[in-house]
Amino acid sequence: MVNVKRLCKIVFPAAGMGTRFLPATKAIPKEMLTIVDKPLIQYGVEEALASGMDEVLIITGRGKNAIEDHFDISSELEANLLAAGKDEIFKKVSHIARMANIAYTRQKKALGLGHAVLCAAPWVGDEAFGVSLADELILADEPAMQQLRAVYEATGCSVIGLAEVPHTEVHKYGIVKAEQDGERLRLLSMIEKPSPDYAPSNLAIVGRYIFTPRLFDHLKNTKAGVNSEIQLTDAINQLAGEEHIYGVVLNAQRFDAGNPGGFLAANAVLGLQHPEYGENLRALLATQLATSS
Ligand code: G1P
Repeated sequence: MVNVKRLCKIVFPAAGMGTRFLPATKAIPKEMLTIVDKPLIQYGVEEALASGMDEVLIITGRGKNAIEDHFDISSELEANLLAAGKDEIFKKVSHIARMANIAYTRQKKALGLGHAVLCAAPWVGDEAFGVSLADELILADEPAMQQLRAVYEATGCSVIGLAEVPHTEVHKYGIVKAEQDGERLRLLSMIEKPSPDYAPSNLAIVGRYIFTPRLFDHLKNTKAGVNSEIQLTDAINQLAGEEHIYGVVLNAQRFDAGNPGGFLAANAVLGLQHPEYGENLRALLATQLATSS
């Protein structure tokens, strides 16, 4: 083990406009879209807490107040639930508001994911920190951020979560060039949303990161890239030129729930697993499949 700095801070960029999911996201933050009975961002925060990261910063923007309200204490609602004897739902609701120490910063202009992460610099300070994109829902026995943390604690280096994607989908993601380095995967470079002809592999960045604070120095100097946005991937690519960065192909089931297809798949899978709704849903789907074939 190397002597690594503590890791308890995690940043959730949540200022994006959710254009892939319009019109649903016209008035609702995409992070508040619901998978079965919880919004996406709650899954992300719970994963972070289960990975030992309990200092949370959410980067919000215009129209994102519902996120703050969700994690806030609603005294009136809690009192009403208690008075009505709805103890189970009271427990769930009151837990949400108390489960983490959550701070908020606004990204005042939608200049891209890299710029959103840069907005976290004063809060993070000189520490390693996690970044999690809540529209990627990642289900795993060992939480995704914990899988990254294990490599960070062994190396002290930045670590990025990866998944294989079909070659036809590389243009949707940051795609890495990697080489085996003993038992680990070292990331040599990466490119944001390449066309299939320019993709260095089919290993995609899936919205789970641990960074050394040196990332901020590169973010400060990163110019707008793909889609005229300041891209996080471009800054990581610069960081890879001066520090080792490792990749972890996550042992997990992942859903890109920021678009309708991935969102439906996540709801189907978690719906089928749900102790209360699973059985009815299974029966409904079986009937539906039988009649539509
Ligand atoms: C962002 C990142 C990209 C990553 C993706 C994961 O893209 O820029 O590198 O692969 O998240 O979902 P976005 O989905 O914001 O376009």
